[in-house]
Amino acid sequence: MSELIRNKAELQDGLDKLSGRVALVMTMGALHDGHLSLVRAAKKVADHVVVSIFVNPLQFGPNEDFDAYPRQLDKDIGLLDTVGVDLVFAPEESDMYPREPLVRIDPGPIAAVYEGATRPTHFAGVLQVVHKVLNLAHPDVAIFGQKDAQQLALIRTMVADLNMPVEIQSVPIKREESGLALSSRNAYLSEDEYIEALALNQALVLGKDAAQHGAGPEQVRTVATRYLDQAPGVKLDYLAVVDPETFEDLVAQDAPRGDRGLIITAAWVGPTRLIDNMEVTFHA
Ligand code: PAJ
Repeated sequence: MSELIRNKAELQDGLDKLSGRVALVMTMGALHDGHLSLVRAAKKVADHVVVSIFVNPLQFGPNEDFDAYPRQLDKDIGLLDTVGVDLVFAPEESDMYPREPLVRIDPGPIAAVYEGATRPTHFAGVLQVVHKVLNLAHPDVAIFGQKDAQQLALIRTMVADLNMPVEIQSVPIKREESGLALSSRNAYLSEDEYIEALALNQALVLGKDAAQHGAGPEQVRTVATRYLDQAPGVKLDYLAVVDPETFEDLVAQDAPRGDRGLIITAAWVGPTRLIDNMEVTFHA
């Protein structure tokens, strides 16, 4: 059974009782098998696992779903118990933000594009809370999902640029058998929308196949974009082929740094905005 911890002071007490390597998995709750795959990965690389559950207000824009974001702590703890974790840190908002924070993390240029272009304050809010929870839990390793690839790139950059004493590891996207990437937001999809949403993964697979057959970044982008442009019920926000670390557009680059790329996309399916991505290797 995991121990539920509701504030910073209790977290210190809980951590003091653990010995050996500690891994942290940060979440906003509404847990699904994607989150649990992070916990399973954490258990493989550490003696103890701490999971945080906190719907971070700072990373939601004024017109986003902060109030509507699903909150189901008891169910989440039940799910975590099926995998087995040591501590579940689910602080109150007043504990994390006793007042409006004055010192802020500036996430820099990676936060200005793609998800950051649509959600201008999002990544500053993410890095603020990730920095805080890493400071509170001071784990040896923290595990994040490749589902949120831009977030992962920003966290890695923050840890490198601020010399934060933690190792960042990532876990591949967990998908349903249909190919749809698991996401808390999938719960918003109607039956028809669910079928329409499969086009995101399908477009990425087409792009990846094209790269395997020798297509370069521009062709890959064209193939995948065309597919989504004609997909019923899908309104494309962006589709790009980027460097997985810097998020620089590979189509615009004359000489990419390596052969690795990431196809990233965001699209509206009905009122729900979904993101997905897939790694590709270019065979120039
Ligand atoms: P949340 O959306 O709850 O996701 C928590 C972690 O689970 C993230 O690292 C995310 O990438 C990972 N994840 C979600 N769906 C996944 C899937 N289908 N496969 C693999 N990993 C998946 O991301 C956040 O919360 C927040 O921004 C947070 C980092 C907790 C800061 O508030």
